[in-house]
Amino acid sequence: MCGIIGYIGNKATKNILLEGLKNLEYRGYDSSGVAILGDNIQIVKEVGKIENLKNSIAKQELQGNLGIGHTRWATHGMPTENNSHPHFSNDKKFAIVHNGIIENYLELKEKLQKLGYKFISDTDTEVIVHLYHYYYNGDMIDTLAKVIKDLEGSYAVCVLSEEHKDKFVVAKKDSPLIIGLGEDENFVASDMPAILKYTKNYYLLEDGEMALINKDKVTIYDDNKKIISKEVLYFDFDTDLAEKNGYEHFMLKEIFEQPSCIKKCVSKYIADNDVNFESFSKIEEIIKNTKNIHIVACGSAYHAGMIGKYAIENLARVRVNIDIASEFRYKNPILEKDDVCIIISQSGETADSLSALRLAKENGVKVISIVNVFGSSIARESDFVFYTLAGPEIAVATTKGYSTQVFLLYLFALKLAFIRGAISKDQFNAYISNIKQVENDINESLKLNDKIKDIANKYCHLENAFIVGRGIDYYLSLESSLKLKEISYIHSEAYASGELKHGSIALIDKDSLVIGIITDESLSAKTISNLKEVKARGAKVLVFAKEGIEGLEDVVDDAIFVPSKEEFFMGITGIIPMQLFSYYVAKERGCDIDMPKNLAKSVTVE
Ligand code: AGP
Ligand code: GLU
Repeated sequence: MCGIIGYIGNKATKNILLEGLKNLEYRGYDSSGVAILGDNIQIVKEVGKIENLKNSIAKQELQGNLGIGHTRWATHGMPTENNSHPHFSNDKKFAIVHNGIIENYLELKEKLQKLGYKFISDTDTEVIVHLYHYYYNGDMIDTLAKVIKDLEGSYAVCVLSEEHKDKFVVAKKDSPLIIGLGEDENFVASDMPAILKYTKNYYLLEDGEMALINKDKVTIYDDNKKIISKEVLYFDFDTDLAEKNGYEHFMLKEIFEQPSCIKKCVSKYIADNDVNFESFSKIEEIIKNTKNIHIVACGSAYHAGMIGKYAIENLARVRVNIDIASEFRYKNPILEKDDVCIIISQSGETADSLSALRLAKENGVKVISIVNVFGSSIARESDFVFYTLAGPEIAVATTKGYSTQVFLLYLFALKLAFIRGAISKDQFNAYISNIKQVENDINESLKLNDKIKDIANKYCHLENAFIVGRGIDYYLSLESSLKLKEISYIHSEAYASGELKHGSIALIDKDSLVIGIITDESLSAKTISNLKEVKARGAKVLVFAKEGIEGLEDVVDDAIFVPSKEEFFMGITGIIPMQLFSYYVAKERGCDIDMPKNLAKSVTVE
């Protein structure tokens, strides 16, 4: 979801801005641009890939040691050069970049047009630069404070002023922004990978805060324009983790990183055959007595949550409501003060999930979050956060982020079940020793790589697919379908296999591919009979089944058998083959696997 980079120092600004934007590509975008302050402000912007911007910049003389850059994920106005950022004031004395949505932009636009301001773009963002010009009184921070008081919505915004060649200002609300601290140079960025090459020391801006950035000084202001001091954080990140380590795509690398990610979770969260979440004792009483758990998330995190619901209800016998975050926040949910809300988010910046968190807290509900990115907004605003320790996930399509979320949800369910007496100590011990097997089970599944690659090559030309299962296999179907859709662009629908005959089977014909997910032996016969129904209507049937499942011979065109020691935890192992299948189908189809079209790694706008 768009990216921001800013620099002030002694290096060639344009190279730093381009490098930074390149390292933010994984966030998803449709256009990009830079503004560099030399004698005056020069702006270059292009639609499409950063390469287009780079080629355009190469044709110009852009001098200056101060600049801002932006990758846009359009929300208001088509992805055109005009609508891309940075945006100029009418007199070209100011330039801004913005990440987020200005919800009251129409009202502000009308006022500014009445004051004679000319709008060049269709974006909501442009109101910010004209407001800045309107309020400008020579003091950049004072002016910015006046501007943000008028804004409703979300923003990470950077402002350049031609008059001030030794500073720039930034402000943040709901959209992420960090300030990188260098030697006689400073940076801003949406995320640390943009500037890791130059510094690992940074400030994390909180909502309502502003900053005035010189090359040798950063001054932070709170929303009352009072100067505040902040802790310098250190981004403990192994740079080569963000590289591909020889894999063709980040997604494949991250699929194969899953065993080591699970291993990290085991060593962090399981000790002496017990689950030990940090500060769990502070919530033990709350979750021991709660009658309602709400799980709220988006996309794959939501699918992980469905497995979490299955595990909690089956093990702990506590009622779990699960909602898509963008629905939860507007459905006037029934929240009682003893409820517990679990927010799941890889990035920790998903706007809908963050708003759902705030809604839960406004209603006095304790919030636990399961997050991958340290210090992200959702992590910081939760009462308790359990990190998935998966390391930086660069591919837009989540894999290790998802599987570690499911792993932590299983651990949470086990712990909850035990402290509530829903399972005995022996049962608990048995589950704990079995969940430690998951790392090996995933390794065994990854050995199916070449077989799955061959199968993917056989089916990659199809344009439609149904992915069906029952119970946990239905939840796995949902995640499998999203994986296939988002990286191969094949239209795929996940279906509870028993539901097909209630309408959708009308779509089945000889060009249909139906993928059956069968890991739950107790439901396998039911799903197999559903597959026979579609087979009888000409569909091609591909099944991913747990080793030992029988009765498939006369119904499948192809089958992949997934090794697993413990069926209950197939919610993790069971996704591996479909991650690989989706990857190789997308590869065969020549798709942009790590950065699928229209998608963003972190959806920081509604
Ligand atoms: C999954 O592959 C997608 N990238 C997307 O559905 C993602 O899971 C969703 O946007 C939620 O993101 P989050 O986990 O960072 O909140
Ligand atoms: N809402 C702004 C626009 O559409 C910013 C979008 C973004 O965050 O990239 O230009």
